[in-house]
Amino acid sequence: MKHTELAQLTKQKDAFLGKQVTVCGWVRTSRDSKNVAFVELNDGSAMKHTQIVFDKSKFAAEQLAGCLNLGAALKVTGTLVVGMKAEAVEIAAESAELLGACDLSYPLQKKRHTMEYLRTIPHLRVRTNTFNAMFRIRSQLSYAIHEFFRKNGFYYVHTPIITGSDCEGAGEIFKVTTVGFAPGIKSEQEYCAADFFGRPAGLTVSGQLEGEVMATAMGKIYTFGPTFRAENSNTTRHAAEFWQVEPEVAFAEIDDIIEIATDMIKFITRYVLDNCADELKFFEERFEAGLIAKLENVANSEFARVDYTDAIDILRKSGKDFSYPVEWGCDLQTEHERYLTDEVYKKPVFVVNYPKDIKSFYMKLNADGKTVAATDLLVPGVGEIIGCSERENDYDKLLKAISDRGMKLSDYGNYLDLRRFGSVPHSGFGLGLERMLMYVTGIGNIRDTQIFPRTKNYLA
Ligand code: 4AD
Ligand code: MG
Repeated sequence: MKHTELAQLTKQKDAFLGKQVTVCGWVRTSRDSKNVAFVELNDGSAMKHTQIVFDKSKFAAEQLAGCLNLGAALKVTGTLVVGMKAEAVEIAAESAELLGACDLSYPLQKKRHTMEYLRTIPHLRVRTNTFNAMFRIRSQLSYAIHEFFRKNGFYYVHTPIITGSDCEGAGEIFKVTTVGFAPGIKSEQEYCAADFFGRPAGLTVSGQLEGEVMATAMGKIYTFGPTFRAENSNTTRHAAEFWQVEPEVAFAEIDDIIEIATDMIKFITRYVLDNCADELKFFEERFEAGLIAKLENVANSEFARVDYTDAIDILRKSGKDFSYPVEWGCDLQTEHERYLTDEVYKKPVFVVNYPKDIKSFYMKLNADGKTVAATDLLVPGVGEIIGCSERENDYDKLLKAISDRGMKLSDYGNYLDLRRFGSVPHSGFGLGLERMLMYVTGIGNIRDTQIFPRTKNYLA
């Protein structure tokens, strides 16, 4: 369909002013009066709507029938003129075609709906300003991630979605099976024998293990794709399906990977500031006061860093009455993370050197024998956005970590082999795309960063 995208009209205003243009879009607002009707059209190309003015003396009533209904899809031809508001342009309509009628049962009649209500109509909520802005930022942020790694000499690799091992060892794998319910099956072995792979299989929780395979051949790689976790937690920051960016770097120790993670967060934040100004302004007005200044600060200033042991001291001395008691060896709960980020540091902070018993098997054991070279990046308002570590590259220590956790050694044969054949220090991290989006937009619920969120007891 020959038409001009609405974003182009403002971007190349001078070229289009006074000329005839044809545009398409959906009606976002409309006003009718005796002599003139106004429609604000949006085609998804920009945050701002474009006003269409219908001089009713030039249109028969039936020509405009249905064209003022919210949600209707229109194709309009007219002349681009300077609008009433400074800077704005509008179209003086000469003809209009109703591409898709939309009756009054269209749910988005009111200007503002609650986020809870909008979650009940995921297929339509993407037509609101909030979700338009969210998905434009999501697109830009994804592009920025690729740009960062490409600029820095990383290879983009595709790791499998179906796997036979549990990277995090947390037992949160969704099973992949073609065997249906059969009451006669007596054991897991019997069940698996009849199954597609002849062994248990699941959806990946992380591309890391395969990422390590690639890094120990190609040097610097990253994966960027969907990961899945059957986590039983019904929180505002856990999704059953989410996207993860996972770089893996050979010849990198923990401090090297922390530097890469910092540079990446700064780069992608700067990219969104530079390319999504209208969207960020919208989120600042509606969802988080001071959002843009916060992001400028992320892009321009150093991140904090604290040892886990010191973080425990800070929490114990805080005088706060936490619901989960704080002692060395405990996992940091949301309330603890929030205290550190929102009240102590007020900016991103790397918590480094966690106790080995609360972290995954693959993390490098420190010289103290108690802690691992691992860090989480915590940010105000959201908590953990990155999980990062140097990997255990010593065969015997890794073997022990797997056995100590009661994990099946046979599932990790390839992974162990990497430590037998030219093992090198290497490190990597995983950034949750949706968590980053929450941080960048100030949106408080992960369900509002995805088109169709999948969470416990919810599959729209
Ligand atoms: O800390 P996690 O579990 O680390 C890993 O999966 C490592 N294998 C990554 C690596 O080193 N290559 O998860 C990494 C990040 C978290 O910091 C968080 O941002 C996000 O993934 N994440 C989730 N996001 C949404 N919903 C969930 N259920 C998430 N679980 C983790
Ligand atoms: Mg983690």
